[in-house]
Amino acid sequence: MRVVIVRNYDDVSRKAASIIAGEITSKPNAVLGLATGSTPLGTYKELVRMHRQEGLDFSRVRTFNLDEYYGLAPDHSQSYHRFMEENLFGRVNIKKGNVHIPDGLTKDVTAFCRQYEEMIRQSGGIDIQLLGIGRDGHLGFNEPGSSLGSRTRLKTLTEETVKDNARFFSKASEVPRLAITMGVGTILDARKLLLIASGGVKAEAVKASIEGPVTSQVTASALQLHPHVICVVDEPASRLLLKKDYYKYVEKIAETVEAEARI
Ligand code: GLP
Repeated sequence: MRVVIVRNYDDVSRKAASIIAGEITSKPNAVLGLATGSTPLGTYKELVRMHRQEGLDFSRVRTFNLDEYYGLAPDHSQSYHRFMEENLFGRVNIKKGNVHIPDGLTKDVTAFCRQYEEMIRQSGGIDIQLLGIGRDGHLGFNEPGSSLGSRTRLKTLTEETVKDNARFFSKASEVPRLAITMGVGTILDARKLLLIASGGVKAEAVKASIEGPVTSQVTASALQLHPHVICVVDEPASRLLLKKDYYKYVEKIAETVEAEARI
């Protein structure tokens, strides 16, 4: 696992966007796994900037989102469909047919989830999955106790997650209690994982995920089982990491080796 510690939120966003842009440049029809929440906002803003100013081309890019609230229509102001449209899809040249987000209004959840998994498989699999992290260390909506082998399914949100997300709704009672989410097993199938975290409020979750035991109680700890993970975290989010100095040292060495290779 690569742990890249940067100064602040803007640096997290720039670094994550440059990794995703690199993926698109080397494979123009890349399959991106995308996330919602406040953390990826800066990453999407930077990708939009790269599209507008540097010609980053999304015309062949395909995407699969991690999750969607169950019961919310795509045009609901707090749906993840709406979030993605407003923050990324509506601002770059991606084709509507190449975008996939779980359907929060599906009548047959089991069949829908099976089909979502099938669509990911048929696309050739996700090349890089962007991930935020919940305060309890969840990925997508894989709350504590989710099987580390879980697939896309309906999940009940914890009180903590409902409370955390209440800030986006006018009333806490409006926050959906259920969501359709890719499973931890689905996430681990992606070829690369890119976790981003910012702020002291995420420090405990980051520490538990990167340095804690692998446990279904902190589903992001499953990242430790994946062969190609990059965690980009800012100083406040990395505060509790015991091996912080070592991670920084590793990045310094990598930079030196790259610089020497370029001479
Ligand atoms: C929700 C999303 C997660 C996200 C988390 C943290 O639970 N389903 O994908 O990582 O919120 O969001 P934020 O980045 O706003 O802290």
